Amino acid sequence: MAIGKTISLEEEGIRFATTKDVFYNPAMRFCRSMSSLAVGTIEQDLELVDAFSASGIRGIRYAKENKNVKKLTSLDIEPEAIKVAKKNAKANKIKKFAAIRANISKVAFENVADFLEIDPFGTPSPYLADSVRFFNPKKTAYLSVTATDVAVLCGGKTAACMKNYQAKPLNCTFTHEIGLRIMLRRIVDVAAEFNLGTQSLVSFSDQHYLKTIVKLVRSAELAYESQKKQGHLSFCNICGWRTASRFPPESCQFCNAPLSPHLKNGLDYAGPLYLGELQDKETIRKMTALNKARDYADSEKISHFLSLLDGEIGLPPHYYNMHELCKLNSIQPVPKMVDFLFALQGAGYTAKRTHFSPISVKTDAPFETVLECLKGSK
Ligand SMILES: C[S@@+](CC[C@H](N)C(=O)[O-])C[C@H]1O[C@@H](n2cnc3c(N)ncnc32)[C@H](O)[C@@H]1O
Ligand SMILES: [Zn+2]
Repeated sequence: MAIGKTISLEEEGIRFATTKDVFYNPAMRFCRSMSSLAVGTIEQDLELVDAFSASGIRGIRYAKENKNVKKLTSLDIEPEAIKVAKKNAKANKIKKFAAIRANISKVAFENVADFLEIDPFGTPSPYLADSVRFFNPKKTAYLSVTATDVAVLCGGKTAACMKNYQAKPLNCTFTHEIGLRIMLRRIVDVAAEFNLGTQSLVSFSDQHYLKTIVKLVRSAELAYESQKKQGHLSFCNICGWRTASRFPPESCQFCNAPLSPHLKNGLDYAGPLYLGELQDKETIRKMTALNKARDYADSEKISHFLSLLDGEIGLPPHYYNMHELCKLNSIQPVPKMVDFLFALQGAGYTAKRTHFSPISVKTDAPFETVLECLKGSK
């Protein structure tokens, strides 16, 4: 089969080609760089399968930038994508390389991976069980998942989210954290069916996608432990109070508004979702060190982003949008973020900026203190 006219491209010093029919999104360079850094932190030789490979650039970057990638397989359903990926792997002298033209679900039982990348168009949900089938039962494995169905996970489409993730989303100002946690909970549940415990190494929201890279360890006990980290996030539309709990409370613990899902006139909730840590501190530390050693085009953005992710560790699984909270509680004018952070820290709490939103704060302060600091830091 002949391929279409090739388009020559370059990403992080790697020359490759695609065609008009083989997908390549230059805006995902940041995501590929973050993921490649994460691959580099894994102290294990990896057989890496780049499923949904398209041009193959993602896997080729992982293999060229990280010595621990001992074998790369590009997998895509489209014949043209596989032809292009083969050419790109050859041009980039990837030593141990294989290419599979197939539907991932068809070949899941026949191939083995220590690290599997899944980057489909839209929801990863239907591919999760097949992804887990790639892993050697005796070894620790790594799964890297991208979801671009942000409209479903982050609020707008409740029925679709219930269908794809068996969880209720919530359209509120911390909806991106909710979406990421809904996706993670689905991964935890699927992995648990295969007796795999899940640990999130790095998970984030950026532009139009959500990304998570998890470590999967074969153990029924760890599978239970991961599943125990599930619960709900509740949000009061009246006063802005929010909480994480196993089950949603019957009413707002601040203004007593009753639980009235979907009505926007009381307490609402999202879930079930994952309430464990999104970041592994050691992974973030190693990614930061590797980023310094690499000359990525997005180096500065990555360094800033990683410091935000690090700051979020140990804080509650939600954040406060200052503008929303001021509006709901008639606080005018909205204080400067630095003053608000300073006030919370002065009151003895941890308060950090969050990668989820440039106008929001993560803090372990109780809601009363959050409001007092918002009022007092004008
Ligand atoms: C979003 S693109 C992947 C982009 C690529 N990972 C990158 O970073 O440039 C999705 C790819 O998945 C492929 N695909 C769609 N359904 C598939 C399936 N069931 N099995 C394998 N590949 C599939 C498409 O042909 C397309 O090339
Ligand atoms: Zn309330």
